Amino acid sequence: NWTLEEIVDEKVAEIRNLVQEDSNVVLGLSGGVDSSVAAALIDKAIGSRLHCIFVDHGLLRYKESEQVQKYFSENFSINLHAVDAVDRFLEELKGVTDPEEKRKIIGHEFIKVFEDKAIEIDGVTHLAQGTIYSDVIESGDSKNSVTIKSHHNVGGLPDEMELKLLEPLRDLFKDEVREIGSLLGLPDELVWRQPFPGPGLGIRIIGDITAEKLDILRKADYIFREELSKSDVADKVWQSFAVLPDIKSVGVMGDERTYGYPIILRAVSSIDAMTADWVRIPGETLDLISRRIVNEVEKVNRVAYDITSKPPATIEWE
Ligand code: XMP
Repeated sequence: NWTLEEIVDEKVAEIRNLVQEDSNVVLGLSGGVDSSVAAALIDKAIGSRLHCIFVDHGLLRYKESEQVQKYFSENFSINLHAVDAVDRFLEELKGVTDPEEKRKIIGHEFIKVFEDKAIEIDGVTHLAQGTIYSDVIESGDSKNSVTIKSHHNVGGLPDEMELKLLEPLRDLFKDEVREIGSLLGLPDELVWRQPFPGPGLGIRIIGDITAEKLDILRKADYIFREELSKSDVADKVWQSFAVLPDIKSVGVMGDERTYGYPIILRAVSSIDAMTADWVRIPGETLDLISRRIVNEVEKVNRVAYDITSKPPATIEWE
């Protein structure tokens, strides 16, 4: 039986062995547990020869982009390349309402932005990924190298690079990944982060995605999670978030009739996301959250709480 320290030492030695002295590694850093722990581990092994690419697609939560960038640039010697791709993503998503279409566009655009950045970095031999054991099982995937292509070549041959995959967490379970993260000094907020879908808020805005809707959803979502984290049921929550549906309803504020957005709150307990139950949030907490959202978030005049388990519903709304 290996201790976590021994596992870390072995992984570090393995990474140093695989990546030659003069070569560099690129990693897509999302701020999620897996890519963050992979980054911390590779940082320990090769420091500034690790280049992390953080793509801000504009579908992240309140202050999430700043937090991830600040934390990694202050605490690690990695090179952090942050790409502001907000406008690019919004443009591609304009008018798109179908959930699967949204996922496809976001996934494709993400790869394009990542590849364009990666190809600018010299001497890269490896692409690192935070693949963990459950990902390996689910995908049955056995690739060991990938080709990165630059997409914006005007004239001339497209740039290409053949990269070897570096997946140091491939044989580890989620709980081991979390423990290694803590051992490597990652803060609890990062190590115990709730799962957050790759398409982000893009699939929590029902219907078309606009900058205004993103702003509304971000504010409401932040208030909800902030108040819920202070409540008695905080430790029962697997995921908690707000959803912005594609409807408006009538309300009254002061002497005026309003016609605004409702916000739907979703908080579930779960073990593996395959099934889930809605969290019995105390009435007073729901009341406080509802008042704060309607008072503090412009254009919102109603708050609803989703009391459906999975199945028959899913955790996300799209
Ligand atoms: P559902 O909504 O199917 O979600 O009950 C189960 C878990 O998967 C997450 N989820 C996603 N994660 N890309 C992701 O990376 C996606 O497109 C996606 N859709 C759902 C969801 O947040 C929950 O944890």
